Amino acid sequence: MVSFFNKILVFFFFFFFMVFIALGNARIISDFQFKKQKFNFPTVYVDQSGHGNFATIQSAIDSVPQNNQNWICIIIKAGQYREQVKIPREKPYIYLKGEEFGKIIVTWDAHDTIATDATFTTEADNTIVESITFINSYNYPPKSNNNPRVVAVAAMISGDKSVFYNCKFLGLQDTLWDVEGRHYFKLCTIEGAVDFIFGNGQSIYEGCLISVNADALDGSLGYITAQGRSNPNDKSGFVFKNCDVNGNGQTFLGRPWRDYARVIFYDCNMSSVTTPQGWDAGKFVGKEKQLTFVEENCKGMGSNNSKRVPWKAKLSQQELQQLTSLSFIDDEGWITKQPLNKVLQ
Ligand SMILES: *[C@@H]1O[C@H](CO)[C@@H](O)[C@H](O)[C@H]1NC(C)=O
Ligand SMILES: *[C@@H]1O[C@H](CO)[C@@H](O)[C@H](O)[C@H]1NC(C)=O
Repeated sequence: MVSFFNKILVFFFFFFFMVFIALGNARIISDFQFKKQKFNFPTVYVDQSGHGNFATIQSAIDSVPQNNQNWICIIIKAGQYREQVKIPREKPYIYLKGEEFGKIIVTWDAHDTIATDATFTTEADNTIVESITFINSYNYPPKSNNNPRVVAVAAMISGDKSVFYNCKFLGLQDTLWDVEGRHYFKLCTIEGAVDFIFGNGQSIYEGCLISVNADALDGSLGYITAQGRSNPNDKSGFVFKNCDVNGNGQTFLGRPWRDYARVIFYDCNMSSVTTPQGWDAGKFVGKEKQLTFVEENCKGMGSNNSKRVPWKAKLSQQELQQLTSLSFIDDEGWITKQPLNKVLQ
Protein backbone atom coordinates (compact mmCIF):
# COMPACT_ATOMS: atom_id res chain seq x y z
CA MET A 1 0.00 0.00 0.00
CA VAL A 2 2.69 2.46 1.06
CA SER A 3 4.83 1.75 -1.95
CA PHE A 4 1.77 2.19 -4.20
CA PHE A 5 1.23 5.72 -2.80
CA ASN A 6 4.93 6.40 -3.20
CA LYS A 7 4.70 5.44 -6.85
CA ILE A 8 1.76 7.76 -7.33
CA LEU A 9 3.60 10.59 -5.61
CA VAL A 10 6.67 10.02 -7.75
CA PHE A 11 4.47 9.88 -10.82
CA PHE A 12 2.73 13.19 -9.98
CA PHE A 13 6.01 14.83 -9.09
CA PHE A 14 7.46 13.75 -12.42
CA PHE A 15 4.31 14.82 -14.29
CA PHE A 16 4.28 18.36 -12.83
CA PHE A 17 8.01 18.65 -13.37
CA MET A 18 7.48 17.90 -17.10
CA VAL A 19 4.62 20.41 -17.28
CA PHE A 20 6.86 23.01 -15.66
CA ILE A 21 9.62 22.32 -18.22
CA ALA A 22 7.13 22.44 -21.11
CA LEU A 23 5.69 25.76 -19.97
CA GLY A 24 9.17 27.19 -19.54
CA ASN A 25 10.06 26.13 -23.06
CA ALA A 26 6.84 27.58 -24.44
CA ARG A 27 7.69 30.90 -22.88
CA ILE A 28 11.18 30.82 -24.38
CA ILE A 29 9.77 30.03 -27.83
CA SER A 30 7.19 32.79 -27.71
CA ASP A 31 9.77 35.36 -26.52
CA PHE A 32 12.00 34.32 -29.37
CA GLN A 33 9.20 34.68 -31.92
CA PHE A 34 8.23 37.99 -30.48
CA LYS A 35 11.72 39.36 -31.09
CA LYS A 36 11.94 37.85 -34.55
CA GLN A 37 8.54 38.95 -35.89
CA LYS A 38 8.09 42.02 -33.76
CA PHE A 39 4.35 41.28 -33.76
CA ASN A 40 3.01 38.02 -32.48
CA PHE A 41 -0.74 37.71 -32.55
CA PRO A 42 -3.44 35.11 -32.93
CA THR A 43 -4.02 33.99 -36.50
CA VAL A 44 -6.95 32.13 -38.00
CA TYR A 45 -7.29 30.71 -41.51
CA VAL A 46 -10.15 30.97 -44.00
CA ASP A 47 -10.17 28.19 -46.54
CA GLN A 48 -13.12 27.21 -48.73
CA SER A 49 -11.89 23.65 -49.02
CA GLY A 50 -12.47 23.11 -45.30
CA HIS A 51 -8.82 22.90 -44.18
CA GLY A 52 -8.89 26.20 -42.28
CA ASN A 53 -10.65 27.43 -39.17
CA PHE A 54 -13.48 28.96 -41.24
CA ALA A 55 -14.90 28.54 -44.74
CA THR A 56 -16.09 32.15 -45.17
CA ILE A 57 -14.37 35.44 -44.41
CA GLN A 58 -17.44 36.73 -42.57
CA SER A 59 -17.53 33.78 -40.16
CA ALA A 60 -13.90 34.49 -39.26
CA ILE A 61 -14.75 38.14 -38.57
CA ASP A 62 -17.79 37.07 -36.53
CA SER A 63 -15.46 35.04 -34.28
CA VAL A 64 -13.52 38.15 -33.22
CA PRO A 65 -14.72 39.41 -29.81
CA GLN A 66 -16.66 42.67 -29.55
CA ASN A 67 -14.46 45.64 -28.60
CA ASN A 68 -11.39 43.63 -29.56
CA GLN A 69 -8.22 45.35 -28.32
CA ASN A 70 -5.43 43.15 -29.73
CA TRP A 71 -4.42 42.56 -33.32
CA ILE A 72 -5.83 39.40 -34.83
CA CYS A 73 -4.75 38.18 -38.25
CA ILE A 74 -7.20 36.48 -40.58
CA ILE A 75 -5.30 34.76 -43.40
CA ILE A 76 -7.39 33.94 -46.46
CA LYS A 77 -6.43 31.11 -48.79
CA ALA A 78 -6.64 31.54 -52.57
CA GLY A 79 -10.12 31.39 -54.04
CA GLN A 80 -13.14 33.31 -55.22
CA TYR A 81 -15.33 34.15 -52.24
CA ARG A 82 -18.92 35.00 -53.14
CA GLU A 83 -19.98 36.89 -50.04
CA GLN A 84 -20.65 40.35 -48.67
CA VAL A 85 -18.09 41.02 -45.95
CA LYS A 86 -18.46 43.52 -43.11
CA ILE A 87 -16.20 44.48 -40.22
CA PRO A 88 -18.50 46.26 -37.74
CA ARG A 89 -17.45 49.33 -35.78
CA GLU A 90 -16.90 47.39 -32.54
CA LYS A 91 -14.25 45.08 -34.06
CA PRO A 92 -11.05 47.08 -34.44
CA TYR A 93 -7.53 45.59 -34.88
CA ILE A 94 -8.41 43.10 -37.59
CA TYR A 95 -5.68 42.39 -40.15
CA LEU A 96 -7.20 40.66 -43.21
CA LYS A 97 -4.46 39.11 -45.27
CA GLY A 98 -4.75 37.32 -48.61
CA GLU A 99 -2.25 34.51 -48.64
CA GLU A 100 -1.20 34.94 -52.28
CA PHE A 101 -1.20 38.27 -54.10
CA GLY A 102 -3.91 38.46 -56.77
CA LYS A 103 -5.52 35.13 -55.90
CA ILE A 104 -8.09 36.12 -53.30
CA ILE A 105 -11.21 37.59 -54.86
CA VAL A 106 -14.25 38.72 -52.90
CA THR A 107 -17.22 39.39 -55.13
CA TRP A 108 -20.87 40.37 -54.74
CA ASP A 109 -23.35 42.27 -56.88
CA ALA A 110 -25.62 44.38 -54.63
CA HIS A 111 -26.84 47.59 -56.31
CA ASP A 112 -29.77 49.04 -54.32
CA THR A 113 -28.31 51.91 -52.28
CA ILE A 114 -24.74 52.99 -51.62
CA ALA A 115 -25.29 52.27 -47.92
CA THR A 116 -25.96 48.57 -48.49
CA ASP A 117 -24.21 47.79 -51.79
CA ALA A 118 -20.64 47.35 -50.76
CA THR A 119 -19.03 43.96 -51.28
CA PHE A 120 -16.62 44.85 -48.47
CA THR A 121 -17.38 47.27 -45.63
CA THR A 122 -15.22 48.22 -42.70
CA GLU A 123 -16.52 50.57 -40.03
CA ALA A 124 -13.83 49.75 -37.49
CA ASP A 125 -10.73 51.80 -36.66
CA ASN A 126 -7.37 50.08 -37.14
CA THR A 127 -8.28 47.81 -40.02
CA ILE A 128 -5.52 46.44 -42.27
CA VAL A 129 -6.22 44.70 -45.55
CA GLU A 130 -3.48 43.13 -47.67
CA SER A 131 -3.57 41.40 -51.08
CA ILE A 132 -7.32 41.06 -51.57
CA THR A 133 -9.41 41.98 -54.63
CA PHE A 134 -12.91 43.35 -54.03
CA ILE A 135 -15.38 43.38 -56.91
CA ASN A 136 -18.91 44.60 -57.31
CA SER A 137 -19.86 42.45 -60.28
CA TYR A 138 -23.23 44.05 -61.08
CA ASN A 139 -21.62 46.13 -63.85
CA TYR A 140 -18.25 44.44 -63.89
CA PRO A 141 -16.45 43.47 -66.01
CA PRO A 142 -17.92 46.34 -68.07
CA LYS A 143 -20.41 45.18 -70.72
CA SER A 144 -20.23 41.59 -69.53
CA ASN A 145 -24.01 41.58 -69.04
CA ASN A 146 -27.07 43.70 -69.89
CA ASN A 147 -27.50 45.24 -66.45
CA PRO A 148 -28.15 48.99 -66.54
CA ARG A 149 -25.31 51.11 -65.14
CA VAL A 150 -26.06 51.99 -61.52
CA VAL A 151 -24.24 52.78 -58.32
CA ALA A 152 -22.54 49.53 -57.27
CA VAL A 153 -19.95 49.91 -54.51
CA ALA A 154 -17.09 47.41 -54.17
CA ALA A 155 -15.73 48.75 -50.86
CA MET A 156 -16.86 51.19 -48.19
CA ILE A 157 -14.34 52.36 -45.62
CA SER A 158 -15.46 54.47 -42.68
CA GLY A 159 -13.14 53.63 -39.79
CA ASP A 160 -10.07 55.68 -38.84
CA LYS A 161 -6.38 54.62 -39.09
CA SER A 162 -6.75 52.00 -41.80
CA VAL A 163 -4.26 50.66 -44.33
CA PHE A 164 -4.84 48.91 -47.66
CA TYR A 165 -1.81 47.30 -49.24
CA ASN A 166 -1.67 45.50 -52.59
CA CYS A 167 -5.47 45.46 -52.85
CA LYS A 168 -7.74 45.87 -55.87
CA PHE A 169 -11.14 47.56 -55.97
CA LEU A 170 -13.01 46.85 -59.20
CA GLY A 171 -16.31 48.25 -60.44
CA LEU A 172 -17.84 50.77 -62.81
CA GLN A 173 -19.69 53.46 -60.86
CA ASP A 174 -18.86 54.43 -57.24
CA THR A 175 -16.32 51.60 -56.84
CA LEU A 176 -14.54 52.82 -53.71
CA TRP A 177 -16.42 54.79 -51.06
CA ASP A 178 -13.67 56.34 -48.98
CA VAL A 179 -16.29 57.49 -46.48
CA GLU A 180 -14.29 59.18 -43.70
CA GLY A 181 -11.23 58.72 -41.50
CA ARG A 182 -7.48 58.59 -42.14
CA HIS A 183 -6.54 55.96 -44.71
CA TYR A 184 -3.39 54.89 -46.49
CA PHE A 185 -3.68 53.01 -49.79
CA LYS A 186 -0.36 51.66 -51.01
CA LEU A 187 0.22 49.79 -54.31
CA CYS A 188 -3.52 49.34 -54.87
CA THR A 189 -5.57 49.28 -58.07
CA ILE A 190 -8.86 51.17 -58.23
CA GLU A 191 -10.92 50.66 -61.38
CA GLY A 192 -14.10 52.34 -62.59
CA ALA A 193 -15.60 55.05 -64.78
CA VAL A 194 -17.95 57.32 -62.81
CA ASP A 195 -17.13 58.89 -59.42
CA PHE A 196 -15.22 55.73 -58.68
CA ILE A 197 -13.21 57.12 -55.77
CA PHE A 198 -15.61 59.17 -53.70
CA GLY A 199 -16.32 60.31 -50.16
CA ASN A 200 -14.97 62.34 -47.30
CA GLY A 201 -11.83 60.34 -46.46
CA GLN A 202 -8.55 61.95 -45.45
CA SER A 203 -6.43 59.66 -47.59
CA ILE A 204 -3.13 59.16 -49.35
CA TYR A 205 -3.06 56.85 -52.35
CA GLU A 206 0.57 56.05 -53.02
CA GLY A 207 1.99 54.06 -55.93
CA CYS A 208 -1.53 53.08 -56.98
CA LEU A 209 -2.97 52.33 -60.40
CA ILE A 210 -6.06 54.37 -61.20
CA SER A 211 -7.58 52.28 -63.97
CA VAL A 212 -10.28 54.00 -66.02
CA ASN A 213 -12.82 51.86 -67.91
CA ALA A 214 -14.79 54.78 -69.40
CA ASP A 215 -15.16 53.02 -72.78
CA ALA A 216 -18.23 51.50 -71.14
CA LEU A 217 -19.85 54.98 -71.10
CA ASP A 218 -20.28 55.01 -74.89
CA GLY A 219 -18.73 58.41 -75.46
CA SER A 220 -19.67 60.11 -72.19
CA LEU A 221 -16.84 61.28 -70.00
CA GLY A 222 -15.99 59.62 -66.73
CA TYR A 223 -15.00 61.10 -63.37
CA ILE A 224 -12.24 59.56 -61.30
CA THR A 225 -13.02 61.37 -58.04
CA ALA A 226 -16.01 62.93 -56.30
CA GLN A 227 -14.58 64.24 -53.05
CA GLY A 228 -16.86 65.39 -50.23
CA ARG A 229 -14.97 68.03 -48.20
CA SER A 230 -17.71 70.31 -46.92
CA ASN A 231 -16.07 73.35 -45.30
CA PRO A 232 -12.68 75.08 -45.08
CA ASN A 233 -11.88 73.39 -41.72
CA ASP A 234 -12.74 69.90 -42.93
CA LYS A 235 -9.45 67.94 -42.93
CA SER A 236 -10.49 65.49 -45.62
CA GLY A 237 -8.97 65.22 -49.06
CA PHE A 238 -7.65 62.67 -51.54
CA VAL A 239 -3.94 62.79 -52.31
CA PHE A 240 -2.64 60.69 -55.22
CA LYS A 241 1.10 60.41 -55.00
CA ASN A 242 3.23 58.59 -57.53
CA CYS A 243 0.16 57.01 -59.12
CA ASP A 244 -0.49 55.88 -62.69
CA VAL A 245 -3.68 57.06 -64.37
CA ASN A 246 -4.54 55.02 -67.45
CA GLY A 247 -7.14 52.78 -69.08
CA ASN A 248 -9.68 53.44 -71.82
CA GLY A 249 -12.21 56.13 -72.77
CA GLN A 250 -11.97 59.71 -71.52
CA THR A 251 -12.27 61.00 -68.00
CA PHE A 252 -12.13 64.05 -65.80
CA LEU A 253 -9.79 63.82 -62.83
CA GLY A 254 -12.72 64.79 -60.67
CA ARG A 255 -15.84 66.73 -59.89
CA PRO A 256 -16.84 68.02 -56.45
CA TRP A 257 -19.32 66.11 -54.31
CA ARG A 258 -19.48 68.94 -51.77
CA ASP A 259 -18.53 72.64 -51.69
CA TYR A 260 -14.89 72.40 -50.62
CA ALA A 261 -13.74 69.25 -52.40
CA ARG A 262 -9.98 68.68 -52.25
CA VAL A 263 -8.03 66.40 -54.59
CA ILE A 264 -4.32 66.45 -55.38
CA PHE A 265 -2.44 64.55 -58.06
CA TYR A 266 1.23 64.75 -57.20
CA ASP A 267 4.10 63.13 -59.13
CA CYS A 268 1.63 61.08 -61.17
CA ASN A 269 1.86 59.64 -64.68
CA MET A 270 -1.33 60.42 -66.61
CA SER A 271 -2.10 58.77 -69.93
CA SER A 272 -4.34 60.34 -72.58
CA VAL A 273 -7.45 58.98 -70.84
CA THR A 274 -7.37 62.30 -68.99
CA THR A 275 -9.56 64.83 -70.78
CA PRO A 276 -7.76 68.11 -71.63
CA GLN A 277 -9.93 70.30 -69.32
CA GLY A 278 -8.98 68.00 -66.45
CA TRP A 279 -11.68 68.96 -63.97
CA ASP A 280 -15.42 69.59 -63.90
CA ALA A 281 -17.19 71.99 -61.49
CA GLY A 282 -20.44 70.00 -61.73
CA LYS A 283 -23.13 71.49 -59.47
CA PHE A 284 -20.69 74.09 -58.12
CA VAL A 285 -20.28 76.34 -61.14
CA GLY A 286 -19.63 79.83 -59.78
CA LYS A 287 -18.09 78.44 -56.59
CA GLU A 288 -14.90 77.10 -58.15
CA LYS A 289 -12.73 79.23 -55.85
CA GLN A 290 -13.76 76.99 -52.95
CA LEU A 291 -12.46 73.87 -54.63
CA THR A 292 -8.89 72.61 -54.20
CA PHE A 293 -8.17 70.60 -57.32
CA VAL A 294 -4.42 70.45 -57.83
CA GLU A 295 -1.91 68.79 -60.15
CA GLU A 296 1.76 69.15 -59.40
CA ASN A 297 4.80 67.52 -60.95
CA CYS A 298 2.76 65.17 -63.14
CA LYS A 299 3.95 63.67 -66.41
CA GLY A 300 2.54 61.72 -69.34
CA MET A 301 0.24 62.56 -72.28
CA GLY A 302 -2.70 63.38 -70.04
CA SER A 303 -0.83 65.87 -67.88
CA ASN A 304 -0.68 68.59 -70.55
CA ASN A 305 -2.03 71.71 -68.86
CA SER A 306 -2.60 73.90 -71.89
CA LYS A 307 -6.39 73.32 -71.95
CA ARG A 308 -7.05 72.84 -68.26
CA VAL A 309 -9.90 74.72 -66.56
CA PRO A 310 -8.59 78.13 -65.48
CA TRP A 311 -9.81 77.71 -61.91
CA LYS A 312 -7.54 74.78 -61.13
CA ALA A 313 -5.94 75.54 -57.75
CA LYS A 314 -2.28 76.20 -57.07
CA LEU A 315 -0.78 75.53 -53.65
CA SER A 316 2.25 77.11 -52.05
CA GLN A 317 5.28 74.85 -51.62
CA GLN A 318 4.54 74.69 -47.92
CA GLU A 319 0.90 73.64 -48.39
CA LEU A 320 1.95 71.10 -50.98
CA GLN A 321 4.58 69.66 -48.66
CA GLN A 322 2.07 69.45 -45.82
CA LEU A 323 -0.58 67.65 -47.87
CA THR A 324 1.64 65.23 -49.76
CA SER A 325 3.79 63.98 -46.90
CA LEU A 326 2.64 61.07 -44.77
CA SER A 327 2.03 63.39 -41.84
CA PHE A 328 -1.12 64.58 -43.63
CA ILE A 329 -2.74 61.36 -42.43
CA ASP A 330 -0.26 60.25 -39.79
CA ASP A 331 0.98 63.09 -37.60
CA GLU A 332 0.88 60.80 -34.55
CA GLY A 333 2.76 57.83 -36.07
CA TRP A 334 -0.09 55.30 -36.02
CA ILE A 335 1.12 53.50 -39.15
CA THR A 336 4.50 52.69 -37.54
CA LYS A 337 2.68 51.06 -34.63
CA GLN A 338 0.69 48.73 -36.86
CA PRO A 339 1.92 45.23 -37.78
CA LEU A 340 2.00 46.09 -41.50
CA ASN A 341 4.56 48.86 -41.10
CA LYS A 342 6.42 47.49 -44.14
CA VAL A 343 4.05 49.74 -46.13
CA LEU A 344 6.44 52.54 -45.21
CA GLN A 345 9.36 50.99 -47.11
C1 LIG B 1 3.73 56.44 -67.91
O1 LIG B 1 2.76 55.45 -68.20
C2 LIG B 1 2.87 54.90 -69.51
C3 LIG B 1 1.70 53.93 -69.68
O2 LIG B 1 0.49 54.59 -69.53
C4 LIG B 1 4.20 54.21 -69.66
O3 LIG B 1 4.34 53.73 -70.98
C5 LIG B 1 5.33 55.19 -69.37
O4 LIG B 1 6.55 54.55 -69.38
C6 LIG B 1 5.12 55.84 -68.00
N1 LIG B 1 6.12 56.89 -67.84
C7 LIG B 1 6.82 57.04 -66.73
C8 LIG B 1 7.82 58.15 -66.74
O5 LIG B 1 6.65 56.34 -65.74
C1 LIG C 1 0.19 70.47 -74.94
O1 LIG C 1 -0.92 70.61 -75.82
C2 LIG C 1 -0.78 71.71 -76.70
C3 LIG C 1 -2.05 71.88 -77.50
O2 LIG C 1 -3.00 70.93 -77.24
C4 LIG C 1 0.41 71.45 -77.61
O3 LIG C 1 0.58 72.56 -78.51
C5 LIG C 1 1.65 71.27 -76.77
O4 LIG C 1 2.75 70.93 -77.59
C6 LIG C 1 1.44 70.19 -75.73
N1 LIG C 1 2.59 70.14 -74.83
C7 LIG C 1 3.29 69.04 -74.62
C8 LIG C 1 4.43 69.17 -73.66
O5 LIG C 1 3.03 67.98 -75.15
